[in-house]
Amino acid sequence: MKTEKELSHGSIMQLGLGFWASKTLLSAVELGLFTELAKGPADAASLAQKLGINLRSAPDFFDALVALGMLGRENGKYRNTEETGWFLDKAKPSYIGGILEMSNNRLYASWGTLTDALRAGKPQKDQAVEDDAFEKMYADAARLKEFLQAMTGISMEIANRIAAQFPWRNYKTFVDVGAAEGCLPVRVATNHPHLTGIGYDLAVVRPLFEEYVNSFGLAGRIRFESGDFFKDPLPKADVVVMGHILHDWNLEQKKILIRKAYDALPTGGAFLVFEALIDDDRSKNAFGLLMSLNMLIETPGGFDYTGADCSRWMKEAGFRETRVEHLVGPDSMVVGIK
Ligand SMILES: C[S@@+](CC[C@H](N)C(=O)[O-])C[C@H]1O[C@@H](n2cnc3c(N)ncnc32)[C@H](O)[C@@H]1O
Repeated sequence: MKTEKELSHGSIMQLGLGFWASKTLLSAVELGLFTELAKGPADAASLAQKLGINLRSAPDFFDALVALGMLGRENGKYRNTEETGWFLDKAKPSYIGGILEMSNNRLYASWGTLTDALRAGKPQKDQAVEDDAFEKMYADAARLKEFLQAMTGISMEIANRIAAQFPWRNYKTFVDVGAAEGCLPVRVATNHPHLTGIGYDLAVVRPLFEEYVNSFGLAGRIRFESGDFFKDPLPKADVVVMGHILHDWNLEQKKILIRKAYDALPTGGAFLVFEALIDDDRSKNAFGLLMSLNMLIETPGGFDYTGADCSRWMKEAGFRETRVEHLVGPDSMVVGIK
């Protein structure tokens, strides 16, 4: 046991006031700071003018980002770090700020309702979702685009890892179910020229999917197929992928989707499920557990789950073999073989 003198409140305060740092980064993305600095280093006054921020706020804002490791500063001029220059410059295809834009515009406010959501066990914000989260969200073209780009942001590194880690040479076709813009199909097809793939999603997603896939010159090998995965059968393929899909839905719906994946596969085919899987002891992957709280805030019945949970559901659906593989950071995948 620690003595009173040895106790420190540092980690409590850092966590409790963590939203200060988080919102500083989200505002920097909103203002286009990293995109501006990608053009070249700049001093506080000229940067403030370009971003349209007040001179009182500018030095503290930029220096806080230096202290947070998001900017560098030399001879009074600010510059991006290697990471912010690569991932947060909107002009680059490596941009992942969509998820941060969505967090700034929507999640930041809706997480403010967490206490009420915990009491009620359901979303609290007024645009919230009673039956179908996606139908409501997609009714607004700007939110549709923002959400799909956010998915590319959150899935880019994962998709690269799956492209490298899974034995794609053993398969010829794949379908990414709930493909959004097509981040995973593009990463997989780019790295494995022998594969052809389908991005399956709601019809409203088609134009944005096709624009994204065409921008990589992959229209000949990746096509879009529209459908509703609760109403229609899934397209058949050697590999069925569901990334960040099952966590959106309640247990009964999760099991329906797993069964549909099974039906779409040939014997020997593979089902890949990736998420920020919670560790089996539910005590280490804080991001996975917080993602599940995000589902409480965002969806009527969604929740995240462990690799053991998913393996059990896959076995119940008939998969003969399952394995859990770590991918990158908090993300892992469950592979089921039919
Ligand atoms: C959380 S996103 C995941 C996107 C992508 N797989 C990824 O990991 O980046 C869920 C996706 O499922 C799609 N979706 C939601 N409901 C659907 C339905 N009923 N049928 C087909 N797709 C659906 C959404 O349009 C969205 O692209």
